[in-house]
Amino acid sequence: MESVVGYINSNKEKYVEELKDLLRIPSISTLAVNKNDMITAAEFVAGKLREAGMENVKIIETKGHPLVYADWLKAPGKPTVLVYGHYDVQPVDPINLWDSPPFEPTIKDGKIFARGATDDKGQMYMHIKSVEAYFKTVGKLPLNVKFIIEGEEEIGSGNLDEFVNKNQEMLKCDSVLISDTSLYGPGIPTLTYGLRGLCYMEVVVTGPNRDLHSGTFGGGVDNPINVIAEMISKLKDNNGKIKIPGFYKDVVNLTKKERENFKRLPFSEKQYAKALGLKVLKGEKGYTTLERVWARPTLDCNGIFGGFTGEGAKTVLPSKATAKISMRLVPNQDPKKIAKLFTSYINKIAPKTVKVEISDLHGAYPIATSLDDKATLSAATAIAKVFGKKTVFMREGGSIPIVVSFAKKLKASPVLMGMGLNTENLHSPNEHFNLNHFQLGILSSAYFLDEYSK
Ligand code: BES
Ligand code: MN
Ligand code: MN
Repeated sequence: MESVVGYINSNKEKYVEELKDLLRIPSISTLAVNKNDMITAAEFVAGKLREAGMENVKIIETKGHPLVYADWLKAPGKPTVLVYGHYDVQPVDPINLWDSPPFEPTIKDGKIFARGATDDKGQMYMHIKSVEAYFKTVGKLPLNVKFIIEGEEEIGSGNLDEFVNKNQEMLKCDSVLISDTSLYGPGIPTLTYGLRGLCYMEVVVTGPNRDLHSGTFGGGVDNPINVIAEMISKLKDNNGKIKIPGFYKDVVNLTKKERENFKRLPFSEKQYAKALGLKVLKGEKGYTTLERVWARPTLDCNGIFGGFTGEGAKTVLPSKATAKISMRLVPNQDPKKIAKLFTSYINKIAPKTVKVEISDLHGAYPIATSLDDKATLSAATAIAKVFGKKTVFMREGGSIPIVVSFAKKLKASPVLMGMGLNTENLHSPNEHFNLNHFQLGILSSAYFLDEYSK
């Protein structure tokens, strides 16, 4: 390990320069204008895997954005680790709130600012540098390693899911190593053992066949925006309980032990509220904030539009209104089942005065991983060594759609060894990644491979 660690520590600046090159590529998966940038990013990742010393590096075309695969399988009898990450990023809007341009990586106070810095280019890149350190020093890896890096995580991983179904032998492994989550706090070695799932729905309400003068027609017809607002208000009660019949049926409740473990983590509701510019928090009655965001399902409106939204006033009755509604799910809720329940409830409460169309945009299954499997224990030991502290276990409110497929179809245990922070503005303006955690992450990856090979 000494030479590997030495190599990592003496190449810090080179790593940051390379990461900057990756961050300059505007690989926004959801926007058609960035289609070529997705190919550029995939080629960049493939090139770096090749330079690092990985073998069988290939770019795999899909119906959407390409996958990048690589392997090194020359450690017979040793376990195989599949490293997963994503090179796609979220859109940058609202662009005027960025202090430096999102695709011109800028370093300030030991942090690198750019879209994708923490989610997930910076975190994914750590593992490429960790295998490189092995190849450039000891000339080999302590176990077998495969990489699968995708470009569609932020849009639901549909094509990777299909690829996993059809290529189980190619991706076969004992554990999946993923850095796409957060540390509990700066400098705290953390493993995440639960992710929430997601059910993302769109509701379009159509009233009159065109926008109408709100004086001439106002009072005579129903208004799609009013209707959508009324329907949204019927989705949750005052205690934050979701009113869709059957919604909670499959929810696995928190155990007493888990609630105690959550309570042992340092957490201040006051500081949490203050950091968000809030006076009071709000959530499901009977649960703490950590329980609400990690282990309870939610329903939220993500966007609502229709009618006149420009400057000033325009007297108009909208013909159409749209709401985008997401539900975060917990084990053992099923996004497909929840989409059906949501659809029938909306249809039931929809008035006859309008037409309502509901679509299921995408989803993700929730997951809770086992805490006592060998890969998880190796990771806990590895990061405790690197950070010089005891490893903390947490759950996470966000989702990584493909993790459940890996667990179920490849029968491999996921290790969620994230190095981000929830304060690093992922999906927001001024996204950044702490460069100290970037370096510790490369070391953690190297130590994990070593620990797990024993
Ligand atoms: N890396 C995140 C998931 C995440 C968020 C982990 C916060 C830890 C903390 C991932 O890239 C993500 O944003 N997932 C989406 C999935 C969706 C688009 C299907 C999410 O959770 O909204
Ligand atoms: Mn991510
Ligand atoms: Mn993301």
